Amino acid sequence: MLARNIFSKAALREASFKRFASTKSIRDTLKEVIPAKQEQLKKLKAEHSQTVVGDIKVENIIGGMRGLKSMLWDASVLDPNEGIRFHGLSIPDCQKVLPAAPGGKEMTAESMLWLLLTGQVPTSEQTRELSAEFAAKGELPKFLEDLVDSFPASLHPMTQLSMGVAALNHDSQFQAAYERGIKKSEYWTYTLEDCLTLIARLPALAARIYRNVYKPGVQIPALDKNLDLVGNYVKLLGYGDNHSLTEYLRLYIALHGDHEGGNASAHTAHLVGSTLSDPYLSYSAALLALAGPLHGLANQEVLRWQLAMQKELGNNITHDNIKEYLWKTLKSGQVVPGYGHGVLRNPDPRFIALQEFCQGRPELKDSPIIQLVNKTFEVAPGVLKEHGKTKNPYPNVDATSGCVLYHYGLTEFKYYTVIFGVSRALGALTQLVWAKALGLPLERPKSVSLDVLGKLVKA
Ligand SMILES: CC(C)(COP(=O)(O)OP(=O)(O)OC[C@H]1O[C@@H](n2cnc3c(N)ncnc32)[C@H](O)[C@@H]1OP(=O)(O)O)[C@@H](O)C(=O)NCCC(=O)NCCS
Repeated sequence: MLARNIFSKAALREASFKRFASTKSIRDTLKEVIPAKQEQLKKLKAEHSQTVVGDIKVENIIGGMRGLKSMLWDASVLDPNEGIRFHGLSIPDCQKVLPAAPGGKEMTAESMLWLLLTGQVPTSEQTRELSAEFAAKGELPKFLEDLVDSFPASLHPMTQLSMGVAALNHDSQFQAAYERGIKKSEYWTYTLEDCLTLIARLPALAARIYRNVYKPGVQIPALDKNLDLVGNYVKLLGYGDNHSLTEYLRLYIALHGDHEGGNASAHTAHLVGSTLSDPYLSYSAALLALAGPLHGLANQEVLRWQLAMQKELGNNITHDNIKEYLWKTLKSGQVVPGYGHGVLRNPDPRFIALQEFCQGRPELKDSPIIQLVNKTFEVAPGVLKEHGKTKNPYPNVDATSGCVLYHYGLTEFKYYTVIFGVSRALGALTQLVWAKALGLPLERPKSVSLDVLGKLVKA
């Protein structure tokens, strides 16, 4: 029987907690769901191309396009109050229905990828097949290993990751097919192959960067054909015997897989992809956006900030002292890292999911750094409200994500955004496939000068 299609909301509510046995591959499943989406878009275009769905205000133009509904992104939608939903499924829904790895409880990257790409909940067999494919083609080409090995250890891991991903386009099937000359309707199939190969190779690339920078000279193990993507990633990083860390990273990587399309990294992938740059180049560019402190670098900033707070407060970790520290940060003109969001207006459900993970594990519950994160959460929203600037005084996912890694001994916080980069590939790459399947055009918004804006306002 087929895996159940859960694109419609009603069907989703009814079906989301059931699993359906299927032997269909991810390619066949996608082939099956694409025509309905193409039809949906065609109908919208034919019937509503000129229908007005919003206004553009001056604040949108000078305010980083906040709130402007101007981009198609099918895999997830971010509600300011509820948080992210992946094809309609909330994070707790996903935790219930998406298959875990053998011996684990947390959803795998493969199952999240399947959901994002096809809109369907896969079976365990389907995700295991995908894991086997990733393990089989996850080795890096020799030239890439040599390239990464030639980087100085002082080069930021995100720069290395972006350069490595760009260089993987040496093997781009999309680029080769485009040069040969293919029909537009075939773009998505080659894009899909590139995306799957890139996801398969990310653990080996990201782990090699980690080993070169932080554990030079230590032999990197081979990929294990029986492990899932994250299981292999953790093994290659050198923490394969830590089951809790592996489970944490499964959850973290699945949760971070997508956060709708307007965030800087997803948007960059989409923009670059719209020029028909191949998926490697598109995602390489996205990673450079992710490397910014207001985006993916925030998790390392949180940890740096919480450790500095821990050092300053010593044994006097009280609400009043944390409050004072928060004010000191704000008065020095800095933001409180891990708090606020461009869209969300409530505590980030990803933060809550990671908190729940911590509560379920005694070693994390008792960890001083996690306890400090919790205490900060009890105080920070009040301080930020009083400060009165941020539209969202609540924690985002980064308020805790790096601190858990730190507890488990992955203490090199400059590396944390690389893990985020491995994760965000799931969403950004699936949407490159869909952009091609739907024939979306080159992205080209209209900009205006200050003078033109002045005239528009007067008119
Ligand atoms: C995420 C973030 C970049 C969103 O930015 P944004 O959409 O511009 O947020 P807002 O509209 O709420 O910003 C309004 C004002 O509040 C300030 N603000 C936002 N979050 C703040 C925070 N955590 N601490 C202090 N001030 C904050 C902004 O700097 C801005 O000030 P300005 O008017 O002087 O420029 C911002 O909240 C931030 O810098 N947070 C800390 C970094 C972080 O955690 N990033 C990870 C995001 S997942």
